[in-house]
Amino acid sequence: MPSTPAAAALRGLMEPYSRHVIVCTGGYCAPGHGGRELYALLARLLQREQLLFGPARVKRGETPCLGVCTGGPIVVVYPEGVWYAGVTPELLERIVVEHLRDGKVVTEAVFHRLGEA
Ligand code: FES
Repeated sequence: MPSTPAAAALRGLMEPYSRHVIVCTGGYCAPGHGGRELYALLARLLQREQLLFGPARVKRGETPCLGVCTGGPIVVVYPEGVWYAGVTPELLERIVVEHLRDGKVVTEAVFHRLGEA
């Protein structure tokens, strides 16, 4: 398949990873921008659980909005497309340990999954 020059230049540079976590740091879903604290904590938790390097690596990102804008902070995990609501630091620790490390979704905090109506 033909590639654009940009894609061709980057191909092979990305190291393997297992999941991608995106944290909303915006102020509509979580007045007070609680997502900012979560995003900083996420890095520490991933390091503690040895999820920053190797094939089990978890990539992370922050965004100013995930289009939900209530009930936050909102955190989404791919490739499962699992959306968590009301994420506290304690819940984030459970998500890292139970979901990202052990592969078991923290179902009671999920409000949507990719592909659901
Ligand atoms: S501000 Fe967080 S989802 Fe929109």
